[in-house]
Amino acid sequence: MKTLVCDRFRDHFKRPPELVVRAPGRVNLLGGHIDYNDGWVLPAAIDRSLWLAAAPRRDARLHAYSATVEEGGEAALDPPPPPPKIAHRPRERWIEYPTGVAWALSQDGHALCGMDAMVVSEIPVGAGLSSSAALEVAFLLAWRELAGLPLEGAEMARLGERVENDYLDVHSGVMDQFASLHGRREHAIFLDCRNLDWELLPLPPRVAVLVADTGIRRQLVGGHVNDRQAECTEALRRLRELGCEIRALRDLQSEQLECLADKLPDSLARRARHVVEECSRVCRGAQSIREGGGGEVLGALMRASHASSRDLYQVSTPELDLLAEAASELEGCFGARLAGAGLGGCVSVLVEEWAAGPVSTGLKKAFSERFGNEPEIHRVGIGDGAEAWNI
Ligand code: GLA
Repeated sequence: MKTLVCDRFRDHFKRPPELVVRAPGRVNLLGGHIDYNDGWVLPAAIDRSLWLAAAPRRDARLHAYSATVEEGGEAALDPPPPPPKIAHRPRERWIEYPTGVAWALSQDGHALCGMDAMVVSEIPVGAGLSSSAALEVAFLLAWRELAGLPLEGAEMARLGERVENDYLDVHSGVMDQFASLHGRREHAIFLDCRNLDWELLPLPPRVAVLVADTGIRRQLVGGHVNDRQAECTEALRRLRELGCEIRALRDLQSEQLECLADKLPDSLARRARHVVEECSRVCRGAQSIREGGGGEVLGALMRASHASSRDLYQVSTPELDLLAEAASELEGCFGARLAGAGLGGCVSVLVEEWAAGPVSTGLKKAFSERFGNEPEIHRVGIGDGAEAWNI
């Protein structure tokens, strides 16, 4: 991939690149829709990455090309354009991600340099594996290296979150960017999304992760992430009005919710219950890994997480449900849950290493019997976080 992205850079810009960056996608073992509620999550970086080759330009412009979507784009950097008017565009264009990164950096007073950039991605777009966070992380690292910016990991993750929230108007959290930056081979990241305290936890031995793709793609801009985030904000407002002294839904105790749930509209009570129970699942999952537990506990928690995402948070689909439920019944599978934001995309499946092949075959069969087509299933390795090389 490194050679490929450099070759594409040379062909397109007629000069050699000076820097290559790799930023991985992620799976999230536990902690669905918890990051923007200030809670705990358990993601891991995967061995599918977005690659970027870059060189500085003398003028204050970004010229970027994606060999994945075969589309180029340009932006001024002195200053970068303000956030686009979201209401007026049917879908985001990929150049808005690096432009948003430039905007967030310059809002924080960082002096940018011009850049030519070529991007090639191995992360399927819209599958719930964080292709957009990888894009943001890659450009953050590229500017850090080329312009010599004093940026550290947690700050870059927050900058990526701001690109989503304030530039692209997607009200997601910090998990994806953090995982892409901080991943470690064979480790999950136990992350407190309130203060970004984190711990690397070694995955149980002899487990493997599969991602089974429904092939259904969702549209993030103005989509259900924003709806759910707004519902959580409303649930929080009402709970505070009812006397709960909490900063975010992550602070809610299950006993408090027991007492107050019937004073909330049903949908808001469900969202709050999901957050409370999912936070507890993430912490129990992390504890079980710390104590050297195998895949069984993690898998059971993943199954419960999927059920909660389906019934309480209501971000599943029949295709995701079928994959998650069929997987859980196959021999050698510990558990499965929808990846990313849900409503399309992939299911992440935790299996015993020997069972990766048979579980893939079983899932393909179950899915095609019901929906008529075969899902794509990949085994993904748990890999290292983003890195940059001067060349
Ligand atoms: C998307 C968002 C994340 C997170 C997940 C759901 O991936 O970008 O911030 O909210 O959905 O867990």
